[in-house]
This record gives sequence, structure tokens and C-alpha cells, in this order.
Amino acid sequence: MFLNREQERMLKGDHGSAVQKAMELLVAIGDALNAEKLIPISSAHISGVSYTSIGDAGLLFLKDFALLGAKVKVSTSLNPAGIDLDRWRQMGVKEDFYEKQRQILDAFYKMGVKLTCTCTPYFSGNLPRSNSDIAWAESSAVVYANSVLKAKTNRESGPSALASAITGYIPLCGYHLEENRRGSHNIILEFKPKSLLDASIIGFIAGKKVVSGVPVFPKSKNFTSDHLKAMSAGLATSGGISMFRIRDASEELNVKEKVFIEPSDVNEVLDRYSASTQVNTIFFGCPHCSLSELKNLASLLKGRRVKGDIRLWVFTSRAVYSQAEKAGLIDLIEHAGGRVYCDTCPIVMPLYLLHGHTIATNSSKAAYYLTTLHGIEVSLLDVNSCIKLYTEGV
Ligand code: F3S
Repeated sequence: MFLNREQERMLKGDHGSAVQKAMELLVAIGDALNAEKLIPISSAHISGVSYTSIGDAGLLFLKDFALLGAKVKVSTSLNPAGIDLDRWRQMGVKEDFYEKQRQILDAFYKMGVKLTCTCTPYFSGNLPRSNSDIAWAESSAVVYANSVLKAKTNRESGPSALASAITGYIPLCGYHLEENRRGSHNIILEFKPKSLLDASIIGFIAGKKVVSGVPVFPKSKNFTSDHLKAMSAGLATSGGISMFRIRDASEELNVKEKVFIEPSDVNEVLDRYSASTQVNTIFFGCPHCSLSELKNLASLLKGRRVKGDIRLWVFTSRAVYSQAEKAGLIDLIEHAGGRVYCDTCPIVMPLYLLHGHTIATNSSKAAYYLTTLHGIEVSLLDVNSCIKLYTEGV
């Protein structure tokens, strides 16, 4: 892979050993993927933040890197941690987990990373321009960035996104190249999707059927950016998809392969995620809730109360939380008995917090990971059905 003079000096160690190690990783990746050269990036987003996910080995790696003087060169945000940084005690997180998580975040902070702790960095000040090259980890955010924001990123890992943040470069390959961003499969929907759950399941099924490539979806006036966020997460969960397109006239002509999504495909997913035991926890916010999702929840819960012994957990970013707090939405949700947490989500929080839970959620990504990673029983339900269950017990 071609390196310019500055990049050569980075690799030789002239910019310090942290930059050298980061450059060694990028060169190894670039060589393995036959990248022609390194290109500059304008933004990075790093995953692998929770102590649940990275453990002591990850903590040690980050501490060592920070001690070497690593500093990020571009706007860099962080994926969710294992705790709400303010309300971790209320969540039931133990002191030793908090202490480890705090050390992880301290290491990132020393490197100049913004402690956004969200999988929706685009709502927290890390909003790349259309056409810009970026290095994002977190698969749902990668699909959203490529498809909705029209930035260009591969599905980075935590270490590779950190290496790019520290050097300011990424190998030129994959979705940074226009030829890999063209549509590959026309998705034909045999029903009219409406809810966020529909969008999430469509993404999940398309990801499974297409496996790799760039699916092209029909335009739907029912789909808001929240639907596209839900679809991005579904796509990233069941296949190797990093980007989708919405059909326009030219796409219609160029993409020959067709993939059908029928009501029976949707029913199969709903059957698979249909818990056999009574739901005792409802979870929204995978990916983290937007302001409009919180508005909708607050309006559905206004003047109502939880019926019976059931928890309602809502997860969002701290940036969205503070806007929602000012608008009185957090009060409305919490007066109904719900809890709105920031900085974390059930997939990355300490496992002991999920003990004894059977969960209802409107996210296919959450359903998949809660089931496969944590062995939790999950029912996939739309928002209205979840709120009915919460306030009426049915
Ligand atoms: Fe975000 Fe956690 Fe879902 S990181 S996309 S809420 S699994």
C-alpha cells in the first residue's frame, strides 16, 4: 500500500509510539484488503466500550494506549458503556463494575474521545457531511451513516476505528469506493410496512436474505428517519450489510436481482421471538431513542400508570435526554413508572441486571442479541402493544 511522507514518518515512530502502533494496524488491514492507499477521515466512532464486552484485557489495552500519549485527531464519539453514568446505583450496578467502567472511560477521555456513550452519535454532535470518509464502528450506525447520512464508512472494529481516530486515516477500500456502493438486490415488499417494528423486521429479513451487498428498498412515505434507523439496525444484525439504498428510477433499471419479503417471512420472525413466559420488562431504545420516539412514548403514557409488576426501560443518549428533559418528556415517562436511562443498553450492561427478566421490545436487533448472547426470552411487539401491556396488563 502506498504511504505518503507523513504516513511513512508515522509508521517509523516519528510521531510517537501510540501513532506508530495505530499506523501499523492500519497498514496491516490495508495490505490484507489490497487497499491502494490511506485516505483522510473527518470523523470516528468507537465501539467496545462496556466492561461487559471488553473485560480486563480491553481495559489494559486502552490504559496502555492512553499512557503512550495517544490523542485523537478527528471528531470521535463512543458507543454505549455498561452503565448510566449518573444513575448506575439505581440500575443496580455493583461498585466494582462501576470502577472498571470508569477506568475505561477515563482512558478514552485522556485520548480526547467525546464520552457520548451512544449508538446514535449523529444525534450527539458527530454528524458527518454527505460524501465524507469516516471510520465508524457499531454496525447499526455504520448502515445509517452510509445509507441515510450518505457518508462513507466500512464496518470498523473498535481497535481499527481507534487507530483511524489517532492517525486521521483509513485504508481506501470497501464502501469508501463508489463502485461498491451501487445497489445489488431489489427488495420487493409484499405488504405495507407502518410501524418501527415493521421497519426493524424488514431490515432483519433483508439482511438474512441478501447476506452481503447493497439492498435497494422501495420508497415508502410511511418511513421517517426513525424507521430508517430501526431498519439499519435490523440489516446489520442478520447479515453482513453495511449499506442500503432507496429505489429511484435509475436504480430500478440497473439492479436485476429481486428479493421478496412476504407476510409469511414477518410472521416467522414474530413466531421466533414470542416468549413462552410472562413478559416482566419492556425495553425501548435499540438503537438509542430519538427525540421523536421519546415524544411518542410520552404522549402514549401521559396520565397513565404501570399496571402490575412490570418494568419499562427506555434507553437514549445523554444529548437527546437533555432535550427531552427540557420538553418535560422524561417526567411524563417516569411519572407513569418508566425509567429513562442514558449511556448504556441491556445488551452491554452487566448480565446480572437481566437475571429473571422476560423482555418485550420493538427491536429485532435487541431480540436477536438478548436471545443469542444472554439466553433471555424475548417477545417482539410494536410500541402500542408494549404500552398496552404496560398500562393495562394485556
Ligand atoms: Fe445500540 Fe445497544 Fe442496540 S448499542 S444498537 S442499543 S444493542
